[in-house]
Amino acid sequence: IVLNGVILIAAYFLGSFPTGFLLGKALQGIDIREHGSKSTGATNVLRTLGKGPGATVLIVDVLKGAAAIAVAQWAYTSSAGLLGYQPETVNPGAWMPWTVVLAGLAVVLGHSKSIWLKFQGGKSVATGLGLLLMLNWQVGLTMLGIFSLVLALSRMVSLSSISAVLALPILMVLFHQPIAYLCLGIVGGLYVVWRHWANIERILAGTEPRLGQKSTA
Ligand code: G3P
Repeated sequence: IVLNGVILIAAYFLGSFPTGFLLGKALQGIDIREHGSKSTGATNVLRTLGKGPGATVLIVDVLKGAAAIAVAQWAYTSSAGLLGYQPETVNPGAWMPWTVVLAGLAVVLGHSKSIWLKFQGGKSVATGLGLLLMLNWQVGLTMLGIFSLVLALSRMVSLSSISAVLALPILMVLFHQPIAYLCLGIVGGLYVVWRHWANIERILAGTEPRLGQKSTA
């Protein structure tokens, strides 16, 4: 329990690192939360600050998600060693998927409700992609494929993100993932959809900006 608590807090703080906000301040002295969709994520940074900063936020936020999973897996495995038992004797790996899932949810929460930004932040799509690539690269790449396909057709990042995360539970089943990962796909996916509520309203109203458009209603 202590180990899970430490991993949870570490993942939350990792997710909380406000990449988009810091870049907005550093490059143009602006608060990204007052521009465009008000999100601190890569899409809004691209929209507000341009391609370079957008790509930088994308890469760092993907890495945050991947790092949270890597840290959780490492901490779990090395604590088994510290506690003095071998994986093959006690099978400590049996609970690892759940620990990893907790870390995944915590990093997603940290990114979108950052402790440094009065619990504001991004929509956790890039961070979610990073953690999925680390959990299972086939699931992560397929999700990226769905995202890219919808983006090519609609030119709307939000619609692409929503489509990709809604497909997650199906992908977890198709790729025979542990039940813990399926739960992550359902809970995390629904959370990310909820974070896109304003986007959904704009999509329905026909006012959601497409790639390259600056305005958000
Ligand atoms: O990854 C976030 C994206 O799906 C939507 O971002 O800024 O258009 O709300 P934004």
